[in-house]
Amino acid sequence: MIIKENHSLKPYNTFGIDAKCKYFVEAEEEEELLDFVRQYEWDPHEILILGGGSNFLFTDDFEGTVFYPAMKGIEIIGEDAESARVRVGAGENWDSFVAWAVAQGYGGVENLSHIPGHVGAAPVQNVGAYGMEAGEVIREVEAIEIDKAQRITIPAEECCFAYRDSRFKREWKNRFIITRVVFRLNKTPHYRTEYGSIRSELEKQGGELSLARIREAVIRIRREKLPDVETLPSAGSYFKNPVVSQALAEQLAQAYPGMPVYPVDDEHSKLAAGWLIEQCGWKGKSLGRAGVYEKQALVLVNLGGATGTEIARLANEIRKSVFMKFNVWIEPEVYAI
Ligand code: EPU
Repeated sequence: MIIKENHSLKPYNTFGIDAKCKYFVEAEEEEELLDFVRQYEWDPHEILILGGGSNFLFTDDFEGTVFYPAMKGIEIIGEDAESARVRVGAGENWDSFVAWAVAQGYGGVENLSHIPGHVGAAPVQNVGAYGMEAGEVIREVEAIEIDKAQRITIPAEECCFAYRDSRFKREWKNRFIITRVVFRLNKTPHYRTEYGSIRSELEKQGGELSLARIREAVIRIRREKLPDVETLPSAGSYFKNPVVSQALAEQLAQAYPGMPVYPVDDEHSKLAAGWLIEQCGWKGKSLGRAGVYEKQALVLVNLGGATGTEIARLANEIRKSVFMKFNVWIEPEVYAI
């Protein structure tokens, strides 16, 4: 276990913001981390649990303890004719896990290729893309329950996975340090190719459908639309796609023919935040050193040396203008700290 004081978080957040934390605790072993947690009283407000740092915006230094779970390993812990149970360390890179699953011929995460971040963050966010969500294949989440200083295994049914949401973001926030995630992957994959851009990318390429081809298609689409965080720091989608009443969606669709609308249930529809932002004229624009990515307006980028406050200010201006034009408040997916 590594404990550091006044440690820079710059390498640990994909926006590349140079904020510091009071203490930084990196642990590869559950038992070591448990021993450490047991020694102190913890206030949830003074804790931050960091994975790949692709969903945080630091607007200031963090005067508390950052836990950085670095548990490694991908193990098959059970299998039957249809599926394999795979237990993955929270500190594994998400995309390396996806690449591994695809190489094994295991389906269920291939559409989630090339997403930045660690495996431990997948259940928190319920990572999703191209018609697939991690919550569909997560079976259990192993964690350390901080206030009781004990190890716990949480069944997926208790996590309340929803669009970009789980209990880990709400009432369980900062109560658990996720250490490992157990997935149930399919040995006879059901390809999920109905999402528009995947279908057209696969058609363009032609040939036999396979997990590897879907992964390649997703990587191509993402490379085309989303910035590479190594060269242009960002946190992926900055906002969630807003869910609005059917009535408002219909009213807007009449006023703006061509507006993307995705049905959610009988009373609600989801709108594309990127489209709304683009209509407000923000695509490719910047405020100081904070910018709106030129190819996907949902993504805010650090154009070089931006502070967290500069990015938060741009996000606020965008939220206001979307509300003024469409009467819809879009909510950040990224946590500002
Ligand atoms: N659109 C625009 N202008 C834009 C961006 C999007 O008109 O600047 C339109 C597109 O043409 C399309 C619709 O909005 O009709 C949806 O766009 P897209 O398919 O690119 O997906 P998204 O809804 O903007 C979501 C996720 C992404 C994920 C993609 C693909 C959220 C908040 N974002 O974006 O996730 O990759 O779908 O499934 O749900 C992330 O979380 O970091 C992320 C990139």
